This record gives sequence, C-alpha cells and structure tokens, in this order.
Amino acid sequence: MAVEKTLVLVKPDGVRKHICGEIISRFERKGLALHAVKMVNVSVELAKKHYGEHEGKPFFQSLIDFITSGPVLAMVIEGNNAVAAVRQINGATDPLKAAPGSIRGDFGTCIDENIVHASDAPETAAREIGLWFPELSD
Ligand code: TYD
Ligand code: MG
Repeated sequence: MAVEKTLVLVKPDGVRKHICGEIISRFERKGLALHAVKMVNVSVELAKKHYGEHEGKPFFQSLIDFITSGPVLAMVIEGNNAVAAVRQINGATDPLKAAPGSIRGDFGTCIDENIVHASDAPETAAREIGLWFPELSD
C-alpha cells in the first residue's frame, strides 16, 4: 500500500452549486482523509502556474478566466493510493464521458466547467501541494 497525498480543488462552479460538503463526503466515504483545507481567491499568477502544462492550448485562457471567477476550495487529501483513488471518484475530464456515480458524471454538463481538479501523479501532487499550500512546507 502506498500512502499518498494529492491536491484537490472544488472549482468555482462546485462552490457556486453548494456541493463542497457532498464532494468532501465522497472522499471521506472512500476512506481518504482531509489533511488540509482552505478557501482561496485564486490570482491569475497562481492559476497560470497551476495550469502551466496547458499554456498555448486553445482552452487555456478560458480555463484561467474560469478558475479565477470565484472562490475555490483547496484541499490536500491523504490515503492509500490517494492520487488514483481521487481521480476515480472525480471521473473523466469531460462530464458527459464521466461515469454516473462520479462527481463529474453526477454534477457536470460540460468540459470547461467540470467541478473538480485533482493531481494526476504523485510528482504532480508534490508540485501542486507546494503551490497551493506553501505554508505546509515551512
Ligand atoms: P486536463 O489536465 O486534461 O484534465 P483533468 O482536469 O482531468 O486533469 O485539463 C485541465 C482542465 O482543462 C480540465 O479539467 C478542463 C479544461 N479543459 C477544457 O476546458 N477543454 C479541453 O478540451 C480539455 C482537455 C480540458
Ligand atoms: Mg490535469
């Protein structure tokens, strides 16, 4: 068993829909634990660093506009195989392809507003946790 940490965001659409509690509850029911949680008003600078791998893609600017459009719930989730487990619970990137029962499958209707973010690998998780929770490495 690999105990991992991963970064999860409830994006502005999820906060506006008042489903933060529902989302946290799904991770907890899976057996994962909350390690750190906070609300963040995302700066354009943080957004661009977070989504740096997508710079130059056609959806990049709308992604930055969206993630900075309102408060985000940022959390570090911890547990066995947390990176893969959280992405399973979140579902596929496109909510119309995400399985019913996943967060995106249950609550999303389009790819550009897909409710949640989660790190895609342990190395990405370390980078993203450092970006969103610099206070944890002090
Ligand atoms: P990506 O890292 O590919 O997906 P995931 O969030 O599942 O790791 O893309 C980052 C975000 O960019 C994605 O959550 C939604 C947005 N996006 C679009 O708006 N259009 C697209 O065609 C893609 C691939 C992503
Ligand atoms: Mg990604």
